[in-house]
Amino acid sequence: MSKVYVFNSHGGPEGQELIDRPAPEPGLGELGVQVHAAGVNPIDWKLRSGEVSHDQEFPVAMGQEVAGVVTAVGDGVDGFAVGDEILGLAAPGHGGFAEHTIVRATDAVVKPEEVSFADAATIPVAATAAYDGTHQIDLEVGQTLLILGVGGGVGLMAAQIGKVHEFTVIGTASESKREIVESTGATFVAYGDGVASRLREIAPEGVDLILDLVGGDALRDVADLARAPGRIISAADATTATELGGSALIHNEEAMGKITDVIKYELVDPHVSARFPLDRAGEAIAAVESGHATGKVIVEVIAV
Ligand SMILES: NC(=O)c1ccc[n+]([C@@H]2O[C@H](COP(=O)([O-])OP(=O)(O)OC[C@H]3O[C@@H](n4cnc5c(N)ncnc54)[C@H](OP(=O)(O)O)[C@@H]3O)[C@@H](O)[C@H]2O)c1
Repeated sequence: MSKVYVFNSHGGPEGQELIDRPAPEPGLGELGVQVHAAGVNPIDWKLRSGEVSHDQEFPVAMGQEVAGVVTAVGDGVDGFAVGDEILGLAAPGHGGFAEHTIVRATDAVVKPEEVSFADAATIPVAATAAYDGTHQIDLEVGQTLLILGVGGGVGLMAAQIGKVHEFTVIGTASESKREIVESTGATFVAYGDGVASRLREIAPEGVDLILDLVGGDALRDVADLARAPGRIISAADATTATELGGSALIHNEEAMGKITDVIKYELVDPHVSARFPLDRAGEAIAAVESGHATGKVIVEVIAV
């Protein structure tokens, strides 16, 4: 048997539990993977709460992004072999907070030796979103990127990608994150009352792109800073971004491989700030569900 963390009903975390199941077997185009680490993301609790819909039956396996070792290769897979270290998206229904899972070969890339399993587990969802959000609209050297929610999993990586491209990066976060935000080279601005005027002081001409990782009023309050409404991208709140003339984050299928290389060359640090063993996955999810995580929280299934 093999352990997996699931939710049994929509609502609060009381519906979550660690259960046993037979280790899943890969089908056509799939890899069987022994999970070493899995990244925690807001989507994990949003699926459990019912805020984001899904078509799976209870119990629903939790966790979307994993790094691990290939234990079995399904028919029709080229380019992967048993023993390969990979990172990728857990296939729907199989979950990442698990001892074993399934990853579609098309959703996997080989993990570079230089990248730890912990860091690799932040790539398929969070780092990839950071890459997508900083490449969807081309900015030039010196142009200004404003990141709302810069202190979280996606934000710290997006800020570092922005600095690699020599953009001027400004980020909003709570005061507790000032130091870590400034360590990326970004200019820190505290959110809350008066945030728009604080930003206007730093960027009197406005900004070339707003990458929103918070949504709602946090986006509405500062949207006027965008030099054009189309210069708003949101990973958190497509509805508000679209209302304001911007757009939702669009996923580029090359992004996961590209950001893996960037992390391999140590140009971006995923900032894993907290690690929990599989039997404490609930605490890992709660840390992200608090809405105030710093960098990435991971579930470390096999501790190093
Ligand atoms: N579409 C996709 O593919 C995709 C992929 C990944 C993530 N996302 C979405 O992107 C969003 C961010 O994800 P994440 O993984 O980075 O989340 P996260 O790690 O939970 O970080 C969220 C950050 O926002 C900060 N924050 C909260 N309220 C804020 C406000 N009013 N202004 C500025 N910062 C605020 C929080 O800390 P402080 O309040 O302490 O500063 C926290 O650091 C989520 O909505 C997630 O679902 C989408």
